[in-house]
Amino acid sequence: MINEVANMWKARTWMKNNVPFLYSWHAYVGFELNLFEAFKRPVRIEDVSDAYDLEIELLEQWVEVGIALKHLKRDERSRVKIVRAWKLPGANNGSPSSGDLLKEMMELHIPSLLSYPELMKNKSRHHFNSEKHAPTVAKTSTLLELLAFRIIDRNVKQHKISTILDIGCGEGGYLIKLAKKYKEIDLVGVEINEDVAQSAAEAAQPYDNVEIVHSDIENYKPDRFFDYVMVNNLLHYFDPEERKAFFSRLHNVVSHNGIVTIISPLQKAKHGQQFSSAFNSFFLTFDNLYPVPSEKELRELVKKAGFKVKNVSAIIREGGWFIVKIQKQA
Ligand SMILES: C[S@@+](CC[C@H](N)C(=O)[O-])C[C@H]1O[C@@H](n2cnc3c(N)ncnc32)[C@H](O)[C@@H]1O
Repeated sequence: MINEVANMWKARTWMKNNVPFLYSWHAYVGFELNLFEAFKRPVRIEDVSDAYDLEIELLEQWVEVGIALKHLKRDERSRVKIVRAWKLPGANNGSPSSGDLLKEMMELHIPSLLSYPELMKNKSRHHFNSEKHAPTVAKTSTLLELLAFRIIDRNVKQHKISTILDIGCGEGGYLIKLAKKYKEIDLVGVEINEDVAQSAAEAAQPYDNVEIVHSDIENYKPDRFFDYVMVNNLLHYFDPEERKAFFSRLHNVVSHNGIVTIISPLQKAKHGQQFSSAFNSFFLTFDNLYPVPSEKELRELVKKAGFKVKNVSAIIREGGWFIVKIQKQA
């Protein structure tokens, strides 16, 4: 009897623990199908079903959940409208939105985490398909860019930089922002994914001082030194065994007293441990993505490559996400 009661309590606790998932699921579906736009003004469910060509019973159920979660409300004429619009993801129209983060979590992170039993039993890993996922990943990185850019900008001013290299530049967001502000700085972005490099090159077209190179950084042999190199959200693409060689090669292309900033979640940080451990759990499900290091491991790594750690600061404290600034020893 005592056991049964305890079991019931445990089940109840797990059920309650899972409620936040419902909010994310509801917001994800709404973003994916642009339903928060559809219900921006009071409208009948049948009309949305017709206009968006969606199966009505499932749509009605999604609306019911939305009403329970207070994402939506129904008026006396049975029309439905969003509430607390500030909290919901914006329109799914290609520009980066909090919905892209939901999309990445729901389509990439959660399915990977759910495959743990299968992977452990089969002693296998998935293969990360960067062709498929790079555009979503690039969009979510753009969200972080909003927070990180001011720190990068401060470094550019402080160190009187004239050349910048962005490794794994994604869609070139940092480079474009810098190009807008600093016409006199030479900016180079290297990106391995062809589609992503192409979209960075298109975005960079109006700026004469930005060059986008479609290449694996391993094969990129610049004929000059860079005063500032950015390694933003890239470490998890490198096998920890290869990271030492990567930083040594990096050392060779940085000017004397030049700086490098590394943006990454860090393991075992004082804050955000849950988040970074979830990240590493996700990375580990792929045979071509790798766990991010702890601050201590990163410090040792860059020191061995000839850099001095100047500063480690949190970008998203609760997310365990940091920017680490290192400098080439004179
Ligand atoms: C998570 S995204 C980050 C994009 C950007 N740095 C940012 O922080 O917004 C990482 C990017 O690095 C690129 N990448 C991964 N390995 C690379 C390599 N070996 N050489 C060049 N680019 C690489 C990926 O294709 C992807 O676009």
